Amino acid sequence: MTILVTGGAGFIGSNFVIDWLGAEREPVVNLDKLTYAGNLSNLDAVADDAGHRFVQGDIGDAALLERIFSEHHPRAVVHFAAESHVDRSIHGPAPFVDTNVVGTLRLLEAARGAWTRLEGGAREAFRFLHVSTDEVYGTLGPRDPAFTEQTPYAPNSPYAASKASSDHLVRAYHHTYGLPTLTTNCSNNYGPLQFPEKLIPLVIANAVEGKPIPVYGDGQQVRDWLYVNDHCDAIRQVLARGRVGETYNIGGNAERANLDVVNTICDALQGARPRPGGYRELIRFVADRPGHDRRYAMDIRKIQGELGWAPRESFESGLARTVAWYLDNQDWVARVKSGEYRNWIETNYGKRSTA
Ligand code: NAD
Ligand code: TYD
Repeated sequence: MTILVTGGAGFIGSNFVIDWLGAEREPVVNLDKLTYAGNLSNLDAVADDAGHRFVQGDIGDAALLERIFSEHHPRAVVHFAAESHVDRSIHGPAPFVDTNVVGTLRLLEAARGAWTRLEGGAREAFRFLHVSTDEVYGTLGPRDPAFTEQTPYAPNSPYAASKASSDHLVRAYHHTYGLPTLTTNCSNNYGPLQFPEKLIPLVIANAVEGKPIPVYGDGQQVRDWLYVNDHCDAIRQVLARGRVGETYNIGGNAERANLDVVNTICDALQGARPRPGGYRELIRFVADRPGHDRRYAMDIRKIQGELGWAPRESFESGLARTVAWYLDNQDWVARVKSGEYRNWIETNYGKRSTA
């Protein structure tokens, strides 16, 4: 028995592969293109694990997919690979369509081919689990109820639109061809191994270096923060026991305004590594993200009721762990900041005047 994981050298994917090999002991074929966001050093913890087979390649490469399916006969696909950063999608949407939409289509097609060739119990047991986002549902007002699995799709950024398209393709492959799919829509993840262009690791990295901490707009946008290991656990539950063709929302029950998140990080750093004047003085309010969604929140009663999953980490405990991990792994942060990273910082922040 083997599973195929895509995007397993990225943030959530690498945490998932490490978690999976520890918890399930079932081999993993890990297909990842190693874009700027993918780092093999994320997988150091499983470098000597014979159950981990890494393949560098693109989910859009039909011939490669055909080879992987016929060589390894995975019983399931867990699909993380994506272009994942909203700000990058604003600067250049095309790669988001290439990977998130067309790449997902190619992967679905390869999985359908392999699944069609299966018989009996193996065909019954096959699963295609698609990892998606709360951003497909659009944005909420301060008093709106949280997103449920019935909330109509209303994606606002090119990233969210590309993920919404991929969700629709997955749905269509189930309804049209009967492919046994599962879709998970999760809120903002945080934790070890997150690339330092997303809010939490960026704030930690800048603060440690004494650089300005950029807060978009008024900093009152709300996200529902999910600790990455809780997310990995939820995916394992959905893969094992989720109802075929269904969608499950996954969230952390931890809505926080961005400015509160940033202040909490500054205070945690002050406790661990005191700085004269403190870290909060590094905060700078900068021009807002165009089309910035105001609030995301997830109603997780479906996964709680059907599968008994709930997040274990509180935001405070998860953030403390995360800050400690980044302080202990400064060499990792330095390694993943390639020349391309510096170009990105210049592209995204160079022209953002302080508000
Ligand atoms: P990430 O950007 O850290 O990692 C993405 C990985 O996919 C990288 O290793 C990259 O090399 C790989 N990849 C990109 N294009 C590829 C291609 N064409 N072929 C093969 N591999 C490719 O992303 P992440 O934060 O780990 O997110 C994983 C998944 O979870 C994504 O589908 C994302 O949309 C979803 N998601 C993430 C969050 C979050 O907060 N990070 C929230 C909701 C949903
Ligand atoms: P991000 O980590 O990019 O995730 P997403 O856009 O998928 O929610 O951003 C989280 C929130 O933090 C979002 O509201 C944008 C905001 N943000 C800043 O205020 N400053 C920053 O430098 C970044 C990267 C994000």
